[in-house]
Amino acid sequence: MAFPKIRMRRLRTSPAMRRLVRQTALTVDDLVYPLFVRPGRNLKDPIESMTGCFHFSPDTVAAEAEEVAALKIPAVLLFGLPEKKDENGSEAWSEKAALQRAVKEIKKAVPQLLIITDVCLCAYTLSGHCGLIKNGKIDNDSTCRLLAKTALSHAQAGADIVAPSDMMDGRVQYIRECLEQNAFHETAIMSYSAKYASAFYGPFRGAADSTPAFGDRKTYQMNPANADQALAEIALDIEQGADIVMVKPALCFLDIIHRAKTRFDSPIAAYNVSGEYMMLNSAADAGLLQKEPAILEMLYSIKRAGADIIITYFAKQAAKLLRSSQ
Ligand code: PBG
Repeated sequence: MAFPKIRMRRLRTSPAMRRLVRQTALTVDDLVYPLFVRPGRNLKDPIESMTGCFHFSPDTVAAEAEEVAALKIPAVLLFGLPEKKDENGSEAWSEKAALQRAVKEIKKAVPQLLIITDVCLCAYTLSGHCGLIKNGKIDNDSTCRLLAKTALSHAQAGADIVAPSDMMDGRVQYIRECLEQNAFHETAIMSYSAKYASAFYGPFRGAADSTPAFGDRKTYQMNPANADQALAEIALDIEQGADIVMVKPALCFLDIIHRAKTRFDSPIAAYNVSGEYMMLNSAADAGLLQKEPAILEMLYSIKRAGADIIITYFAKQAAKLLRSSQ
């Protein structure tokens, strides 16, 4: 009897062999790069809580978008900060706000780059919550009306995809109806459908200045202990007209990404959030691991779980790594 016929190591003998049998394809086409815009001029200010990320002003963001497009990344996801916060977050739907102006500048400079805009009130409200406060509670339906108004202002500025991240019930329907009534039939909705109340948003809240002034987001974002409910959330959003659905964060919720991919036909996006980004950066900066292979391993895990689209602050670095590994 010869040695076992099957030796798994045969398929790992050389880079070409490993490439030939590699099952999961990660490409630059899968990536979305988030960008932060704030009012002002000539800004490119490093964000303290997020290594390698910047606050741009509407006049400087187009140059960054050009760089993203040159790397062949298909889309950016824009977050806006206001000049002034108020109770209702009214700058969220102002056509003169930083985000709306940034959309116009980017469209003018790089029309082929897709612009996705985050639709939420938390950076714009004094409370730092994603919705309006009535009697000490987050009021669902009045918030949905303002989110629809906000999404419409993004579409009017030229956004290709609007992405509600607030987790109010029914907001996708409000937004879809509002877009249709205003003839934005082609503006797509990417819904943050299964968004968990996660500790991994910490660095982002420094960047967006959106830490809740009181309490937490547990009455609207999901409990990390729940799985089936994520599928119910996604099903509802698809029913209401979401074109792309999202699971967020990614790494602690790979099981949810996988189940969503198995159950639904819509494209599934996964958000590799700020805490995941900084966890890896911090470990690499401390000399505990090698950054570049760790980035790819992380992104491969998200892709392998079933994500069609990966939103990641590593998008630019990953695009360069993937190019050099082809
Ligand atoms: C706003 C929003 C958040 C993120 C995306 N949109 C923060 C939150 O819900 O508190 C988090 C992104 C990240 O951590 O990278 N609602």
